[in-house]
Amino acid sequence: MPTTMPSYSRPIASKLPDVGTTIFTVMSRLAQEHNAINLSQGFPDFDCAKELRDLVTKYINAGLNQYPPMAGVMRLRECISEKAESLYGAKYDPEHEVTVTPGATYGIFNAVATMVRPGDEVILFEPAYDSYAPAVQVAGGTPVYVQLRYPDYSIDWNEVQRAITPKTRMILINTPNNPTASVLSGEDLRMLESLLRNTDITVVSDEVYEHIVFDGHRHQSVASFPGLAERSFVVSSFGKTYHVTGWKMGYVLAPKELMNEFRKVHQFNVFVTNGPLQHALAEFMENPDAYLSLAAFYQKKRDFFLQGVKGSRFKPLPSRGTFFQNLAYDAISDEKDTDLAVRLTKEKGIASIPVSVFYRRPPQHRVLRFCFAKSEETLAKGAEILSKI
Ligand SMILES: Cc1ncc(COP(=O)(O)O)c(C=O)c1O
Repeated sequence: MPTTMPSYSRPIASKLPDVGTTIFTVMSRLAQEHNAINLSQGFPDFDCAKELRDLVTKYINAGLNQYPPMAGVMRLRECISEKAESLYGAKYDPEHEVTVTPGATYGIFNAVATMVRPGDEVILFEPAYDSYAPAVQVAGGTPVYVQLRYPDYSIDWNEVQRAITPKTRMILINTPNNPTASVLSGEDLRMLESLLRNTDITVVSDEVYEHIVFDGHRHQSVASFPGLAERSFVVSSFGKTYHVTGWKMGYVLAPKELMNEFRKVHQFNVFVTNGPLQHALAEFMENPDAYLSLAAFYQKKRDFFLQGVKGSRFKPLPSRGTFFQNLAYDAISDEKDTDLAVRLTKEKGIASIPVSVFYRRPPQHRVLRFCFAKSEETLAKGAEILSKI
């Protein structure tokens, strides 16, 4: 019997040669080591509703512990469909057009795997959530980047038009946007709708922060625009909406023809998504208050954090949605954001995410991302540290 694992000695043609440990793992680990206030990784430091936890226990104890249907528990699919209709005026048939997935990252990955073939191009916006490019690359596609315009991180639709080629298979959008906290307007989506008319380009629309849009604005979903809905996979996450990021539960909406293909891949990728959690979420969703009150809940936290850093030398950039606040630090240092984020964690006891990690090459501007999905106590401590820098 060998005492250690023998090593694999042949060359590996890595599909993701540039991928290492994600910055989120690195910063959270560093925050822990230095006992720092952790405003880096995007997850709440408070628990989900007790009612939701009790529902999970209820369904586990009721014996609903075997494989649920491949596309998801019907009652949950119906709730999702009703929500999409009431909020976005879009009718998704729960039988054929709604699939429950183990998280949104999975939904995005599976949609990309369904549509993208070797040689296809996929348009991404930079900065981009870190899972997008690897999903495209594993499918054999090529990411094509369009830059969001600093400091409001808006989209130049002329540039998008120039990026479209006969090889463009898909365009991946994200609103509200991580890491920029920007949102797309109805006008943006109309621009996209008209750009894609007469093409066979599909859309993956990452809308995991759909219920976290601030200052009285409404989330604009591709589901509301028929010319986009007909070609889109709309992806959302229960993790963000119900403070259960560790559950990895989400869903995908798409027209029947696209969803049929999506399910072929899904069937052999994971087959089904956690059953008792689906039953619990279905019952919990019957009361819309939790998701309808989420924007106000997080806006209060955003404003509390902003008030706390008001006198500081950091300059807040607009946070129109998500649970992130970006702070520019031109007045403080000309260090790289990656260096500053590490130094602030070690020396000042506050952890953030350097926004440059969401780019292939670091941009000129200097910005750190802070997550405000935290208790007021944590936010107050964090803001106090930042105010002294
Ligand atoms: C833009 C975006 N998409 C997807 C996800 C992942 O969602 P899930 O945890 O449901 O996979 C996140 C989580 O941070 C995110 O910020």
